[in-house]
Amino acid sequence: MTRNVTSPNAALATAAPRYEGRAKVTGAARYPSDVRLARTAHACLHTSRIALGTIAGLDLAAAWRVPGVIDILTHETVGDAVRQAPAIFAGGYLSDSFRPLGSPRIAYWGQPVALVVADTYEAAREAAQKIVVSYREQGAPGAAIDGPGVTAQALTPMAVKAGDFDAAWAAAPVQVDARYATPAQHQNPIELFATQCVWEGERLTVHEPSQYVNNVKFGLAGQLGIDPEHIRVVSTYVGGAFGAKGFLTQRTALVALAARRTGRAVKLVATREQGFTVSGYRAETRHRVRLGATRDGRLQALGLEGWELTSRADTLAMGALSMTARLYACKNIAGQVNAVAADRSTPGFMRAPGEMPYAFALETALDELSYALGMDPVELRRANDTSIDPVGGLPYTSSSLMRCIDEGARAFGWKDRPRQTGLLRDGDWLVGQGCASAFYPALAGNCSVRVRLDANGRVHVAAAGHELGQGMYTMMAQVAADELGVAFDRVTVTLGDTELPPAVVSGGSSATASMAPAIMAACAAIRKRLGMKDDDRAGVLAALARSGAGVVEELGESRAHGNAPESMRDLYRGKALPSGGAGLADRVQFALGAQFVEVRVHALTREIRVARAVGAFACGHIINARTAHGQLVGGMIWGIGSALHEQSEVDARNASYINANLADYLVPVNADIASVEAIMVAEEDRLVNSAGVKGVGEIGVVGMAAAISNAVFHATGRRLRSLPIRIEDLL
Ligand code: MOS
Repeated sequence: MTRNVTSPNAALATAAPRYEGRAKVTGAARYPSDVRLARTAHACLHTSRIALGTIAGLDLAAAWRVPGVIDILTHETVGDAVRQAPAIFAGGYLSDSFRPLGSPRIAYWGQPVALVVADTYEAAREAAQKIVVSYREQGAPGAAIDGPGVTAQALTPMAVKAGDFDAAWAAAPVQVDARYATPAQHQNPIELFATQCVWEGERLTVHEPSQYVNNVKFGLAGQLGIDPEHIRVVSTYVGGAFGAKGFLTQRTALVALAARRTGRAVKLVATREQGFTVSGYRAETRHRVRLGATRDGRLQALGLEGWELTSRADTLAMGALSMTARLYACKNIAGQVNAVAADRSTPGFMRAPGEMPYAFALETALDELSYALGMDPVELRRANDTSIDPVGGLPYTSSSLMRCIDEGARAFGWKDRPRQTGLLRDGDWLVGQGCASAFYPALAGNCSVRVRLDANGRVHVAAAGHELGQGMYTMMAQVAADELGVAFDRVTVTLGDTELPPAVVSGGSSATASMAPAIMAACAAIRKRLGMKDDDRAGVLAALARSGAGVVEELGESRAHGNAPESMRDLYRGKALPSGGAGLADRVQFALGAQFVEVRVHALTREIRVARAVGAFACGHIINARTAHGQLVGGMIWGIGSALHEQSEVDARNASYINANLADYLVPVNADIASVEAIMVAEEDRLVNSAGVKGVGEIGVVGMAAAISNAVFHATGRRLRSLPIRIEDLL
C-alpha cells in the first residue's frame, strides 16, 4: 500500500485499479433495478399537481380499464397500513416523516398520491396518467425561502457563541456586512430512485440503491410493523447517490405493501421528475456574514447567520457554521441557524450539504474583506490561521490549512496575480483569479467487517457497506491485501447486503474512515490467531500453512472516537451515524483544503468559463490515490456546477419544480471543464482513527463556488453574492 502520497501522478502508478471496473464497463455489475425477479409487476407513481390542500376525489375508472392493471394504491387503500415514523434526526430512520397515501392531505407538489401496479411498465404508466384527482386547495403555498407564507424558526442548539460579538463588531476598524444566497439543488444521480420488493411468506427482500442498507431494513420494519430479521435489503452497486440515497424514503414501504397485496414481485423506478420529490435535495439558503477586522487583517468579530429552507413536517438544517465559525482565529463570534418551513418536500443531504453554501458565504465575505483591507486573500487567511478551535478552545487533531493554501498557490501561480480587478485580459476575455478555503468534518462511525483467509491464500472481505461509485470495493480489497500481506487480486469483497456485518451510513465522507479501521481490526485478529508478531504482514500465509487451519475468519469491529461502548448497539439496529468534526468533547477534527480558480468572462457576451482550477487538500492518510483523486476532482467539478449551473427552479404559484429534468436542470458537461487539478497534501493524523483517514468525498465541492465568484469579481469588478452565477448577472 502506498502511504502518504503527495503527487497524484506518482500515486496513480501504484494505486490499485478499480476492483469493480471490469464488471461496470462490461455491464456485468447488476444495479438494484437490473435484478430480474420472477413474475415482476411494474409500479408507477401518480404525483400531486398542487402543494397544499387535500384530495377531494379520486376517479380511478379510466386507470382500471387499462389492460394489465393489477392494483391501485391510494390513501383509501393504504391509510395506516404504513405506520407513522420519525425522521432520522428526530431519532427515527426516515429521510422524511410525511406519509404520502397516509391520508388525503397534500403537503408538497410532487407528493405521491397513487401507486399503480400492472403487468407491464407501459400499462402502469398509462394507468397512472389516467388517474384523475380533484383537489381542494388550501390557499397559496409557501414556496420559497424569502417568499410569502413561510415560517422561520431559530434553531438554538445550533447557535455558536464566543466572547462579545456586538462590542467587537462595533469597535472593529474595518467591517464587511454582506448577504448571500444559494439555490435549491437536486443530486440527480444517473441511477433513478428504484425499488424492487418481493415477499416469500413472511420474508421480504428489497433491492434498492442505498447508502445505508441497515437503515432501510430497520426503518422499513418499523413502518410495516414486522420483525426486522424478516427483511433483507440488497444494494450491490449504486449508480450515484450524493446524499439522495442516504436514508429510507417513503416510497419503499408503498412498494413493499403493493408486493404483499398483489403476491407479486413489484418494481418501481420513479421518473427523473418524480425523483425531485421522492427523496431529499439541497435546500436553498440565505446568509448574513459580518466580519470585523483590524487594519492589518486580524479578525476581531465574526457574525454568521444562516437561513435554510425545510418542510412543514420536518425541521431540518445543515447548520455548517459549526465549521465556518471554527476555521479562523477570532475571539468574538456569534452564529445563528434558522430553519424556514415551506410547503415543500423535506430537503436532505446533497454532497457537502451545508458546507458548500456556508463556505460560499464566509469565503466570499473574506474576499470582500481582503479588498477592504488592500490585502492579498492568501495573506488574510494566513493572518487568521489557527490550530485551536476558537469557539471551544479545543485543539485541532491536525490543521494543514496554510500548507494547502501554500501548495495550491504555488501550483496555481498565485504570486503573479495582480491585486486590482479588471487588469488581466486575453483578447476578448476578461481574466480573473480567485481562491477560497475548503473544509469538511473528519467523521467516522461504528462499523464491523468479516475477513476470511483461506489456505490457498485467498482473502474474502464482507460488510454491509456500499459502493456508490466512490471506490469502496477497491479500498476494502486494498486494505485487506495490505494488512494480510497478499496481492490485491487475491482479495474478493462483498458489499451492500443486510445479511453481512453491519456498517455505518456511507455518507458524511465517513465510509472509508469507518470501514478501514474495522478491516484492520479483523486482520489483526487473524494475525493474532496465527500467533504472529503484530507488525508482521509478510508472514501471514506461511503462518497459516504452519497452523494447519484451512480457514481463519474474524469479525473486526471499530468504534468511532467519542462514541460510548453502548453505541455499538446502534450499529446493530441500523442507527449508527458518523461522529467527529466539531462534535467531540476533547478536540476538533477537520479535513482542510484550498482552491484556486481562473475564470474567463467574455467582454461582450459575458459567457463565464472556468479555465483552470487547482485544489490542494490535506485529508490524512490516502489509502488509494487513484480513487481519492477521482473523488476530489469529481467534487471540484460538482463545485463548478454549484457555482455556474445548478438551480432547481421553483414556481412560486404552486411550489413546483419547473426544470425537473436533465435537459433543463443544468450540470457541467465535458465542454465546461477545462483543467482541474487536485493535489493531495501529505498529512499524518493518527488521532482521527486508527487508519489515519479523513474522508475525501465532499471537500472538493466546498470552496469552489466562493473561489469562482471571487475570480469573477477579480475579472470584472462585479461582486456577485447569489448562486448560481449566470450570464445575465454580468450584463
Ligand atoms: Mo453525503 S451528502 O453525506 O451522502
